[in-house]
Amino acid sequence: MSEILATQITWHDGSVTPAERQQLLKQTGATIWFTGLSGSGKSTIAVALEQVLIQRGHAAYVLDGDNIRFGLNASPKILIDTRGTSEAAAKRFGLGFSAEDREENIRRIGEVAKLFADAGLIAITSFISPYRKDRDAARKIHQTHKTGPIPFVEIYVNTPIEVCEARDPKGLYKQARAAVASGKGMGFTGVDDPYEPPLNPELTIDTGTLSPAQAVAKVLNYLSAQGIIRE
Ligand SMILES: Nc1ncnc2c1ncn2[C@@H]1O[C@H](COP(=O)(O)OP(=O)(O)OP(=O)(O)O)[C@@H](O)[C@H]1O
Ligand SMILES: [Mg+2]
Repeated sequence: MSEILATQITWHDGSVTPAERQQLLKQTGATIWFTGLSGSGKSTIAVALEQVLIQRGHAAYVLDGDNIRFGLNASPKILIDTRGTSEAAAKRFGLGFSAEDREENIRRIGEVAKLFADAGLIAITSFISPYRKDRDAARKIHQTHKTGPIPFVEIYVNTPIEVCEARDPKGLYKQARAAVASGKGMGFTGVDDPYEPPLNPELTIDTGTLSPAQAVAKVLNYLSAQGIIRE
């Protein structure tokens, strides 16, 4: 079988317009991108926001770090153990935590969120996404979408590391500090791997001062003010 080259694939325009989708769903498809340190509160706020949006009659869906890593971006080991994928294929398509794999993880999430948003949904992503260039790349594919720009709302969950570390809901800070003390290191964001804060986020949330309910209200007000959600 001869290989089909990327240059032989042509984009096929759909005939449903963004305006038709907006009318159907009474909202503008958009991506709400939460970024921040582990334990900052991204998942807590993302799922609360999703719940409130659904209760108010809006189609919304959360893409969350750990869950995506069981499926779309499963690690080679998960692919081998749970799907019986061959070792060679698992190595080729699975994603771990190397710098390269982290970049690919965020690239795929950006693409999936964009597809959901293009379908008219409010896609809510909850990933540390520590590198500015990876988040900016996700923003760019939304802004340059074929049928017109798709709103991309970057929300910086700016909880101080001391607060995140005191919460340590998954025990990862403790593990990372021990790894650093033993000289091995773990490449954990905020401890021995950098976090690059957004320069111009649409919103910033400090969960040291805002409760999850207050944070959700802040996001809802922004979405209403932008006309992304309508009653
Ligand atoms: N105001 C608040 N907003 C959000 N979370 C809070 C707040 N106050 C306390 N918490 C607690 O902080 C923890 C935040 O954990 P969460 O899993 O949401 O973080 P995360 O940013 O998704 O981390 P990770 O990147 O590791 O997935 C939870 O245990 C939550 O109950
Ligand atoms: Mg989370």
